[in-house]
Amino acid sequence: MGKVGKLQKFAEVTAFSNCYERATELKGKWATHVFKNSNPITLELACGKGEYTIGLAERFPNRNFIGVDIKGNRIWKGAKYALENNMNNVAFHRIMIGNIEEYFAPNEIDEFWITFPDPQHAKKRKRLTNPMFLDRYRTIAKPQPIMNLKSDSTRFYEYTKEVIKEQNLEVISDNNDIYQWNDIPEYLANIQTFYEKMWLNDGKKIKYLKYKL
Ligand SMILES: C[S@@+](CC[C@H](N)C(=O)[O-])C[C@H]1O[C@@H](n2cnc3c(N)ncnc32)[C@H](O)[C@@H]1O
Repeated sequence: MGKVGKLQKFAEVTAFSNCYERATELKGKWATHVFKNSNPITLELACGKGEYTIGLAERFPNRNFIGVDIKGNRIWKGAKYALENNMNNVAFHRIMIGNIEEYFAPNEIDEFWITFPDPQHAKKRKRLTNPMFLDRYRTIAKPQPIMNLKSDSTRFYEYTKEVIKEQNLEVISDNNDIYQWNDIPEYLANIQTFYEKMWLNDGKKIKYLKYKL
């Protein structure tokens, strides 16, 4: 079969049983209605093709993972892989992250991942680690949820560290060149996203921050 085009992916993804679109009816019900267990839920924000959602779900079968993005044609790849591999701990949700509290309830989320977000150099208010977004994430999370950020952008990484400092947040890991890190966690080295591969090809250093919100 040839390459699947963007429009076909849009059409297919809406019919995938593991994909949801602006599903306000699932607010507070992801454990009972989607995963049918009480395992902790990790959200991958701006997941693109969902490499972390899939890669972490394979490594941690006793946790649930939801990839969130606005672009259905990107979500398609991860969602199709999860369906073909009968992964019951994976779902995808097509929403705008700015409205995230409309789709998830207080205490519903345990951990967050953000990988290679648009750095939004000109627009602080659109940066996914700005204080306004952090407050939104806190609204839907258990107390002191973990945030993981992987980025190629030195400015975005430094900006996030400023927010961490201003809010006096606890940093668990901070590395500005992960492929030089002797004790790099396996999942950090071996799960690489579409954008990460592009930036690595350009010779960029990859940064990682893990902190408590
Ligand atoms: C640079 S791509 C990174 C994708 C993926 N994490 C990767 O590393 O390959 C940024 C992604 O963020 C998504 N995105 C940006 N802002 C968003 C928002 N406010 N709500 C939902 N998705 C958003 C875009 O659709 C895009 O897929």
